[in-house]
Amino acid sequence: MRILVTGGAGFIGSNFIHYWLQNHSSDQIVNFDKLTYAGNLENLKNIRNNENYTFVKGDIASSKDVTQAMKGIDIVINFAAETHVDRSILDPAPFVITNVVGTQVLLDAAAKAKIKHFHHVSTDEVFGALDLASRQKFSEETNYNPRSPYAATKAASDHLVRAYFATYNLPVTISNCSNNFGPYQFPEKLISLSITNLLEGKKVPVYGDGLYVRDWLYVEDHASAIDLVLQKGKIGETYCIGQDNDIANIEVIKKILAILAKGESMIEYVKDRPGHDRRYAMDATRIKKELGWHAKYDFDMALELTIKWYQQNTKWWKKLKDRKFEEYYEEQYVKR
Ligand code: NAD
Ligand code: TYD
Repeated sequence: MRILVTGGAGFIGSNFIHYWLQNHSSDQIVNFDKLTYAGNLENLKNIRNNENYTFVKGDIASSKDVTQAMKGIDIVINFAAETHVDRSILDPAPFVITNVVGTQVLLDAAAKAKIKHFHHVSTDEVFGALDLASRQKFSEETNYNPRSPYAATKAASDHLVRAYFATYNLPVTISNCSNNFGPYQFPEKLISLSITNLLEGKKVPVYGDGLYVRDWLYVEDHASAIDLVLQKGKIGETYCIGQDNDIANIEVIKKILAILAKGESMIEYVKDRPGHDRRYAMDATRIKKELGWHAKYDFDMALELTIKWYQQNTKWWKKLKDRKFEEYYEEQYVKR
C-alpha cells in the first residue's frame, strides 16, 4: 500500500508514521506537510533514510500540490490542520484556510484520483461542551455544536468529508478523538506546555478555576485506533476514540508536579479562555465493540513516559520555545 499522510510532521502525524512503519513494514508512506510552526522534520529524523518513507513539502489548500502528491496513492490519511484553540481565538483565518478549504481541496483531488480509502482525523471538540455535573459523554450520535473557531473549522471539515461520501461516493471514514498527549507534542498544549515550563523552572498557567475536564489519550493508542479503522472500519462511518480518562486540568497538573517533585507554588491561575468548553468525555463503545480496539496505556503510566521523554529530549523542545514562541506566549498569557 502507498499511503499519503498529510500533516505527518506534526505531533500525531509523526507518531502515526513511526507506528505505521513499525507495524506495516512493507507499506510506503508519503508524508505531505506544509511545515508550519507546528511541523517539524526532527520528529522523523531517525527514519529519514528509510526506503519506505518519503517527505513532500506542500499545502493541502493548494490543488496543484495535492494533485501531484496523490499520484500512485492508495490511501489518504488527513492529519493536516491548524490545531491550537488559543491560536484560533487570536487569529481564526488560517484555520478556515487549512481546515476547511484545505480539506475540500484534498477531498477533490482524492475523488479525482479514485483513492481507495480517505480517512479524516478529527476531534471531540466538534461536539461542543458537556456540563460538569452531568455523566453524559459524546458519541457518534451526538449533534455537532462547535464553540471555538478551531472546533468550527474541524466540524466543517467533517461535514465536507461526509458530503463527498454521499455525493461522489468517495470511500471515507472519520475518527473523532479526545485530547492526545505524548512525545513530539508542540509545547503549547496543556500537558507539553506544563512539563516544559516546569523543566525550565517556570510556572504552569491554569485557565480560570482549573476545573475544566478533558479526556486524555496517549498518542500511540490513537495511532492503533486509526490503524483498526483503516483495516476494519465501515466505509462512510465515524468512530469516536477515547479512554475514559476524563480528568480536571488541575488534577493533571498536580500529577505532573508530583512526578517532577515540584510544589503547588508552581501553579499560576491566569485569565480564562473565552468560550472555554467545560468538559469533554468520549464514549468509545463503537470502536471497542465493532473493531475490537482497546488502549494499551493507562493514563498515569503514559504521563510518566511522556515526562521522561521531555526530560530526555530537551534539545527538541527548547528549539521550539524560540523568539516567535515567546511573542505568542506574551500575547496569549501576559498581555490579556
Ligand atoms: P499539530 O499542530 O501538531 O500538527 C499539524 C501538522 O499539520 C503540522 O505538521 C503542520 O505543518 C501541518 N499543516 C498545517 N497546515 C497545513 C497545510 N495547509 N498543508 C499541509 N500541512 C499542514 O497537530 P496534531 O496535534 O498532530 O493534530 C493532528 C490532527 O489530529 C489534526 O487534524 C487535529 O485536529 C486532530 N486531533 C488532534 C488532537 C490533539 O489532542 N492534538 C485530538 C484529536 C484530533
Ligand atoms: P489544550 O491542551 O489547549 O487542548 P484543548 O483546548 O484543545 O482541549 O487545553 C487543554 C485544557 O487545558 C483546556 O481546558 C484549556 C486548559 N489550558 C490551561 O489551563 N492552561 C494552558 O496554558 C493551556 C494551553 C490550556
